[in-house]
Amino acid sequence: MNNISIYLHWPFCESKCPYCDFNSHVREKVVQEDWLQGYLKNIRLWVSIFQNPKIKTIYFGGGTPSLMEPNIVSDLLEGLYKYYSISNNIEISLEANPSSVEIKKFRDYASAGINRISIGVQSFVDKDLRLLGRRHNSKEALSAVEIGKNIFENLSFDLIYGRQFQSLLDWEKELQFAISLRSQHLSLYQLTVENNTAFGKLFDKGKLKGLPCDELSRKLFMTTNDICYSHGYKPYEISNFALDKQECKHNVNYWKCGNFLGIGPGAHGRYQFNQKRFSYENIKNPETWLNKSFNEDLAINIKKRMSDLDHFEEFVIMGLRLSEGLSLSKMHKNFGKRFDEKILQELIRLGFIEIASNQLKVLQKGKVLLNYITKQLLT
Ligand SMILES: C[S@@+](CC[C@H](N)C(=O)[O-])C[C@H]1O[C@@H](n2cnc3c(N)ncnc32)[C@H](O)[C@@H]1O
Ligand code: SF4
Repeated sequence: MNNISIYLHWPFCESKCPYCDFNSHVREKVVQEDWLQGYLKNIRLWVSIFQNPKIKTIYFGGGTPSLMEPNIVSDLLEGLYKYYSISNNIEISLEANPSSVEIKKFRDYASAGINRISIGVQSFVDKDLRLLGRRHNSKEALSAVEIGKNIFENLSFDLIYGRQFQSLLDWEKELQFAISLRSQHLSLYQLTVENNTAFGKLFDKGKLKGLPCDELSRKLFMTTNDICYSHGYKPYEISNFALDKQECKHNVNYWKCGNFLGIGPGAHGRYQFNQKRFSYENIKNPETWLNKSFNEDLAINIKKRMSDLDHFEEFVIMGLRLSEGLSLSKMHKNFGKRFDEKILQELIRLGFIEIASNQLKVLQKGKVLLNYITKQLLT
């Protein structure tokens, strides 16, 4: 039986946040029934590629999938169940924005089969939510978390830190508050200024004021890890924290280089077929993707067989993000590779990594330099 995860990308949002470079678009009208048919046609096409697949996790990401009508989510899941066998303890997540309209749908999402909700809170400070261009306020964010907790067995929410004009003390207080809500999971991202976003353009003109310097960024990261750890939230990945056994199975599958089908505009996928590994990306433009899907086309932009080197590099890049670390014996068995001993010893001496029981782990001090460490190991 082939274990897989399914990622469904809903590419629409009510407005575009100034920091966001996800494949999200604002449209006046979206005919959701057409999208349902497009996804279902795509799913049917993929069935011919995977023999005997078993779905372990499903993730509705975006965009803003909480703009989907619950009956569309339900029909989509029904469609998947028709073709694929489903793991007993399947995890089915949906990303939600915390507006009051979307909160009202929570119960119907749960009835449709969603058992994990991930809420895009971003901040509990109204002035900062405005700076981030969000449409909700802190009261709605809190109410989404509280209502969601009573409905879903697993609730996560996202916060962005390292925001404009945010001091270390501000963030510590906000994080303590977030932790006091005892969600099962937290995703805590440092604000990244991406090219081709409104923030990126302001930054290039020197008009994005109040961003943290490198030293403050480092302190914010370290403090985030320390506070979460001391309150029972295990930092199991660079930006993800979970209470005992509440890690997001879907994302762990990505980081462990498992198979996953990406369906929807811009979604990525990876799969193994006849001992070969493939990667692909769906067409990004929503309308082009939908048209192609209607014409029984996989609507894929790029599809390629991954070379052993590509696969190895992905295995290392992803594995180093996980706190449990990278299995050196698995790396040797699967790729016939070992890291340069001199580089390993130097990274150990600097206190950036440790190796125990053949697992290479990036230590707290090294996590802020993850890109550098990865590059060193891959040279
Ligand atoms: C797919 S996105 C958004 C889901 C949902 N539409 C929302 O905005 O709440 C997932 C998460 O990535 C984070 N994110 C997006 N862009 C970011 C950026 N430039 N810097 C840091 N975090 C970012 C946000 O926390 C966001 O909730
Ligand atoms: S951050 Fe979320 S709501 Fe904002 S544009 Fe991106 S995907 Fe849409």
